[in-house]
Amino acid sequence: MTEAQRPASPVLPDAFHPDTFYGALDPVKLAHADSLKWTLYGEGVIPMWVADMDFPVAPPILRALQERLEHGLGYPQLMGDPRLIEALRRKLAGNGLTDLPAEGFAFLPGVVPGLYMAVNALSEPGQPVATMTPVYHPFHLAITDLGREVASAPLRAGADRWEIDWDALEAAAARSRLLMLCHPHNPTGRVWDSAELTRLRDLVRRHDLFVISDELHADLRFTGRPFESFAADPAMRERTLTVTGPCKAYNTAGLGIGVLVSHNTDLLKRVKAKAAGLTGHPSALSITMWRAALAEGGPWLTQTVEYLRGNRDLLTQFLTERLPWVKFFPVEATYLAWLDLRAHPRAGDIQAFLLEEARVAVHNGPIFVPEAEKADYQGFIRLNFATSRALLTEALERMARALA
Ligand SMILES: Cc1ncc(COP(=O)(O)O)c(C=O)c1O
Repeated sequence: MTEAQRPASPVLPDAFHPDTFYGALDPVKLAHADSLKWTLYGEGVIPMWVADMDFPVAPPILRALQERLEHGLGYPQLMGDPRLIEALRRKLAGNGLTDLPAEGFAFLPGVVPGLYMAVNALSEPGQPVATMTPVYHPFHLAITDLGREVASAPLRAGADRWEIDWDALEAAAARSRLLMLCHPHNPTGRVWDSAELTRLRDLVRRHDLFVISDELHADLRFTGRPFESFAADPAMRERTLTVTGPCKAYNTAGLGIGVLVSHNTDLLKRVKAKAAGLTGHPSALSITMWRAALAEGGPWLTQTVEYLRGNRDLLTQFLTERLPWVKFFPVEATYLAWLDLRAHPRAGDIQAFLLEEARVAVHNGPIFVPEAEKADYQGFIRLNFATSRALLTEALERMARALA
């Protein structure tokens, strides 16, 4: 079927204005039984925890999936779909990962397996692995689940953004062989800038580290500057694995797929060999979905990022005016806000308090740090603002009332 012959999506018009479309999200429809986000806390709770957007799938993705189903569901290209590899090579070149070899791609059923594979292959049990905390919890869980030790470098609050504590990171790097980097960083929403990346690369070179750089949120940026991969510097290519996927930008977490990418094909082979048979392969539909996203999902993504930018600004304004004691820095990327509510008398159980009193479900800050640091992050929350303006406003009003 040619592009022109394809039927229009039955769910969404091709050209939709996110302001009006997303404004109409209906909590009753969102709370279907398949949704982890909407079912965990039950009726009446606005879920702003797990990193899913409440938005429907982009129309070109829906069309491609419908078409794929008509072909049947045999094994897809298990060694890596050449059309997907080509599309990713073009896309990642735009982030500075130029000249990636076709053998430099290992497809996985998600990004998290790539994190575990890197820890498993590039460090030994008992060894420290460096990472900057707080961080997306599977980072520190991969380290401890696999019997390694977290060598953490806590981020510190700068004047207007979260910053790397270079002394702490030097100390962590000196004990480690592997650095786990989250870029953009979940939960703080930082995009490490060129100066920081240059300094990070110097540190990595001096301490002779391997790096796994999780760049899953790279397409959800509000900074306006181009995204620079950690391995954009050719000097880092031999020692770096980059891991990414479509699930955050295109809201497709239910169709798990991810990819480990490296210029160093020997390193990639070594990492794959250590996990042989354990990870499985991505599903046929997930491959189709990612190809459609890369080929035709651009306009949807641009509109969605603009909508998210509006939500971020709404959140910033609301907190500044209504809850001025809540400390936070404006989010540069992701749809996740990292909020410091330690000044509240109920900081010690703030997640439970907001759930009970505001009927709003957020992620509890201590989840994002390893055991030894949990007490320091009581009173922090991570709030997912990827929903309609109406629902975001309702949730913030409820929180403001409860916290008053
Ligand atoms: C930084 C980061 N990496 C990985 C994931 C999960 O990816 P996947 O579901 O593909 O394993 C998330 C989900 O929120 C994330 O924020």
